Amino acid sequence: MPPQRTLAILKPDCVHQHLIGEVLRRIQEADFTIRALRMVRLSKAEAETFYAVHRERPFFDELTDFMSSGPCVPAVLEKENAIVDFRSLIGATDPNEAEDGTVRADFASSVQENIVHGADSPENAEREAAFFFSERELVS
Ligand code: CMP
Repeated sequence: MPPQRTLAILKPDCVHQHLIGEVLRRIQEADFTIRALRMVRLSKAEAETFYAVHRERPFFDELTDFMSSGPCVPAVLEKENAIVDFRSLIGATDPNEAEDGTVRADFASSVQENIVHGADSPENAEREAAFFFSERELVS
């Protein structure tokens, strides 16, 4: 079986705070292989499509405003157990609940501006990777 893939996004707060290098360093130190990487600024409509599962949540409008407020850096990462291991690396959604030493505990300022996104299931990882990258952009 090939290693598992996950989709990460270094969010606009990560880019704005000049933390792209630090977060990518942690990703590589944790033995993820970067299969695809790019910088993109989402439109409001694109952010709404990406986060469509949260459409009914009270924070949807704020979240999609934030995600379209500046450039972000989506990446496809590969590793055994990539989805669970990446979520361990970044910590809980709410930085107040994130374990010490995780990306969100160290850098996130709120539950919304939480530096990084990680897919939560293999199905979502595949859907989210396809949102940003074509199959031929996944470098082997
Ligand atoms: P993410 O992993 O990108 O998935 C959905 C995002 O919604 C989440 O990270 C947070 O940025 C945001 N989010 C989740 N819960 C809340 C909340 N209660 N208030 C504001 N934003 C939230």
